[in-house]
Amino acid sequence: MSASSTDPRLDGRAVRRIAYDEATIQKRVAELGRDITAAYPDGELLVLGLLKGSFIFLSDLVRHIERPLQVDFLVASSYGDAMESSGVVRLLYDPETELEGKHILLVEDIVDSGRTLARLLDLLSARQPKSLAICALLHKHIAEHLTSPVQFVGFDAPHEFLVGYGLDHAEHFRHLPYVASLE
Ligand code: IMP
Ligand code: MG
Repeated sequence: MSASSTDPRLDGRAVRRIAYDEATIQKRVAELGRDITAAYPDGELLVLGLLKGSFIFLSDLVRHIERPLQVDFLVASSYGDAMESSGVVRLLYDPETELEGKHILLVEDIVDSGRTLARLLDLLSARQPKSLAICALLHKHIAEHLTSPVQFVGFDAPHEFLVGYGLDHAEHFRHLPYVASLE
């Protein structure tokens, strides 16, 4: 499916540039699935999706991980009532699945400042998982707040505001099968 300005999903908005088309994303997600399968030869694996942005990426990714696993989600709020990120992350939905003793793979749509992830890693590591790793579809490589490495990265993202494949602008455009920047 093309993404011209006539794409009815765009509601009249125009795409400036398609950063990653559907075939490119699918190929890379399959590779990530293979890398993750190889990286966890044993132990229990819990794939933990950070909502809402990871929902499409995670659902494609887990179908390429060929070993036993569990899926759960978490919802974090980093802003509270403030206009700017306070650095305080609260869990609005806490995974029901036990984390202790498991390999946890935290799945995120995009790493920007890294602030949310840095706080989440602190929170989750307190639950004594066997290991804790991050898989992000996109990484802007400007994450000064994130000291831990992102072990699995789909693409090194351009410094543009991107939408699609889970990423939103005011809750719109999450359902695009490609990742694009808008005019
Ligand atoms: P961070 O805590 O600054 O790394 O914020 C990461 C979150 O901001 C992501 O999970 C996204 O929800 C959102 N975000 C960052 N960059 C973009 C973008 O280019 N498009 C859409 N959402 C973004
Ligand atoms: Mg968002």
